[in-house]
Formats: sequence, C-alpha cells, structure tokens
Amino acid sequence: MKIDFAVIGGTGVYNPKMLTNLKIVDEDTPYGKVSITIGEVFSKKVAFLARHGQGHSVPPHLINYRANIYALKNLGVKKIIATAAVGSLREDLRPGDFVLLDQFIDFTKNREQTFYEGGEKGVLHLDMTNPYCPETRNLIAQVCPKDITLHPKGNYICTEGPRFETPAEIKMFSLWNADVVGMTSVPEVVLAKELGMCYASIAMVTNFAAGISQNELTHAEVTETMAQNKEKLQDLLMVVLEN
Ligand code: HPA
Repeated sequence: MKIDFAVIGGTGVYNPKMLTNLKIVDEDTPYGKVSITIGEVFSKKVAFLARHGQGHSVPPHLINYRANIYALKNLGVKKIIATAAVGSLREDLRPGDFVLLDQFIDFTKNREQTFYEGGEKGVLHLDMTNPYCPETRNLIAQVCPKDITLHPKGNYICTEGPRFETPAEIKMFSLWNADVVGMTSVPEVVLAKELGMCYASIAMVTNFAAGISQNELTHAEVTETMAQNKEKLQDLLMVVLEN
C-alpha cells in the first residue's frame, strides 16, 4: 500500500490517535534521521510526524525542516496536512477557531530555506503565488463539520521565535495585513513545494497576539486552548482523510 498522505502535528498534536496498525520507521536523509509513525485509516496508509518531537522537545528555530520534508518525500508522500498553533491579529479570529492558511509573510531570520543550494544541487527560484495547496484547502473547507468555525483563508506571518512577539511587532504585522502569527510554517511549506508535494495547513487560533490579548502570553495558554479543541481538530482530520 502506498503512503500518499502525511499529517504533520504541531504544538499539542503529538499522537496519531486516528490511526491503527501503528509502526515507527526511522528514515535516513542527507539532513539527518527522522522518526515517523505510519498507520492506517479508511484503508489508507498515513504517515504522522510530530514537528516538535514527542513532548515538544524541539523549539521552532531548531526543527530540522529539511530532514522532515525529505523523509516524507522518501516515503512517497504526495499530500501533507500540517497543523499549527497560531496567535490571532484579528478580533474575528477567536481562540478555538480554525484558519486555512493561503498566504505567508516570512519574518524568520536563520533557517535553511531550500534544498537547492547551488553547485551540484542547482538553483531554484520557486513560484510562491499559491504556497498552500488550493485543492486540499478547498477539500478541507467543503468537508469541515458544522460545529467547527473555519475561516477559509488566512495570511500567516512566521516569526523566528522561540520568544513571542512584542506588541510593537504585532502592530507592524497588522499593517502588513497578517491575520495570524506562528513560528513554524516557513520554511516547511516552501520545502514541501520544492519537492512537488501538495501542502495545506490547518491553523488553530490558541490566543490573541501580544498587545491584542489583555494578558501576557504563556506557552501554557497555547497548549491549554489546543488541548480544549484537540478533538475538533482530530474530527476535521478524520473527515478530510475519509474523502
Ligand atoms: N505568536 C507566535 N506563535 C504562536 C502564537 C503567538 O502568539 N500562538 C501560538 N503560536
């Protein structure tokens, strides 16, 4: 059976609960080894990768994005659905809401952004008109259960982290028309596109961003909102995998 589909679990999504017949494989890549869980659902084989490692042990700026994406490609994966915890820059995007990302702004500072590093590997200037796969985005929007508040589009600004943003930064990002802020979608989406994979991201709003929120931000707030809404996310992933 081919492995067409992969789920990359972000903050709060560490276990592929929806899969059966689980097997862990260690994929070797030129960028390092990656541990991936493979399981089955609706007679499909699905790969699951916890982006931050088990128990959130790898911070956003140290994730080996190239190894992760290369490993999924090695397994034959064609479609990736990623989850991401995000802060909201808009009052109408509330904690517990989902946002299907359709654009990003890259505010990262120190990450390997490409597989094409010149020399033998060549140079690639990749089109980014549609960074997130429109077909999968449309499918997710169509099958989304009615009790989930899903916003069909969202502009994601990716910060370097691991710190949260200052209110001054958030104000600037709002002027740039960013809708949500997170620390991981870039370069993940870019690398997947470089290898010809269809990548979609379901962002879950876990908090209002710094300066919009009434209180100071904590990672606990992010994981608590995630935990409260995890079942909804799992339901959504299940109906997407069924279709
Ligand atoms: N900022 C950056 N990343 C995040 C946030 C935030 O407010 N919430 C969840 N991930």
